[in-house]
Amino acid sequence: MFNSDKIVQFNFPTIIRFGAGAVKELPGYLQQNNLAAPLIVTDTNVAQLSFFKSIVSSLQQRNISVEVFQEIHKNPVKSDVYKGTEAWDHTNRDCIIGIGGGAALDVARAIVLRIYHREDLFKYDDLIGGDVFVTNDVPHFITIPTTAGTGSETGRSAIIADDETHQKKILFSPRLLAKIVYADPLLTMELPPFITAATGMDALTHNMEAYLAKTPHPLCEGIALEGISIISQALTKAVNSPDQESRSKMLIASLMGAVAFQKGLGVVHSLAHPLSSLLDTHHGLANAVNIPYGMQFNIEGCEHKFKRIARTLELKEENGEAVVKYLFDLNSKINIPHKLRDIGVKQGHIETLADLAIADFAHPNNPKPLTREDFKHLYLKAL
Ligand SMILES: NC(=O)c1ccc[n+]([C@@H]2O[C@H](COP(=O)([O-])OP(=O)(O)OC[C@H]3O[C@@H](n4cnc5c(N)ncnc54)[C@H](O)[C@@H]3O)[C@@H](O)[C@H]2O)c1
Ligand SMILES: [Fe+2]
Repeated sequence: MFNSDKIVQFNFPTIIRFGAGAVKELPGYLQQNNLAAPLIVTDTNVAQLSFFKSIVSSLQQRNISVEVFQEIHKNPVKSDVYKGTEAWDHTNRDCIIGIGGGAALDVARAIVLRIYHREDLFKYDDLIGGDVFVTNDVPHFITIPTTAGTGSETGRSAIIADDETHQKKILFSPRLLAKIVYADPLLTMELPPFITAATGMDALTHNMEAYLAKTPHPLCEGIALEGISIISQALTKAVNSPDQESRSKMLIASLMGAVAFQKGLGVVHSLAHPLSSLLDTHHGLANAVNIPYGMQFNIEGCEHKFKRIARTLELKEENGEAVVKYLFDLNSKINIPHKLRDIGVKQGHIETLADLAIADFAHPNNPKPLTREDFKHLYLKAL
């Protein structure tokens, strides 16, 4: 419900250059902005791909000096950020370009924060109000997504885990927005089916959870519903027989999900984060398996919103149960398992998972409040 008795703030993101070939504009953009020495932050896989090598050579051809930092974990940790900052310190850089999936973009953003904020990284943890300490300048920051899932390219936050506990922390500040995003669907053409499926379900989870999140934000709700619609048209094709249209749709819908989730996330992300912390499960896969169960939990009290989601998905039955069935069916079509036991979760993990889930930052905006018992029950149901 939206009412105007309370003053709220709406923020929208940075410049987005979207379309096939957009990344070719990068060298000209750097030159126009007198930037000649980027630190490129990526991961070791992406650094081997041919599009990455051609981005680097397109810069070198214009006499732009390139330094690549790629030593990052699948679920990034604080020491990755510290090592990347050392690369900046030792090589006289003037800007940071993140190229990759959410993991690389999050590390890039956390390095952007750290350059002029040298206290312990987790002093800036948003969950303990650390965003107020983000007061200094940050380097010029550019993002180039190569997966269609997290939408981290348009975000203001970086999710980085503690090296020892593996608990994910969220670093947040409007200062951490990229100055420009080059969203080029051609970079996503060769994404393997499993990564397309898992990241695509992350994007769907962002749009659905943002739409349902209890914070009032009608602008985000409109974007989230359109994001859900676009994903429903494109995800199965992008996984099973990708073409430029399905890749483009997934890239824009992923970006829309991240714009929408400034409104908040919910139960599914809080079920998913502990799986990455404890078992190093890919973030998108963890969301994908949990989303039908999380949405089932949310139906009560949100019947009207589920009716609108069902209508957006063009389902025959316009209710929450039909949305849950749609999610199970979608997972089947893109080869995502229905059960947590199929992705390595065991009965013995449940208590720890429930402890981590209740402490997670994503669920306070869920439309229906959750207890530790609720999380335990949901994990057992999904097991
Ligand atoms: N900042 C945010 O708002 C936000 C939101 C959601 C998730 N996240 C974080 O994002 C991370 C997950 O990101 P992700 O789902 O994009 O996965 P990812 O970055 O781990 O990438 C998945 C895999 O795909 C490979 N890859 C990337 N681009 C490719 C391409 N074009 N072709 C072939 N392979 C490619 C990568 O090397 C990696 O092995 C998690 O750490 C999660 O916590 C951040
Ligand atoms: Fe996510």
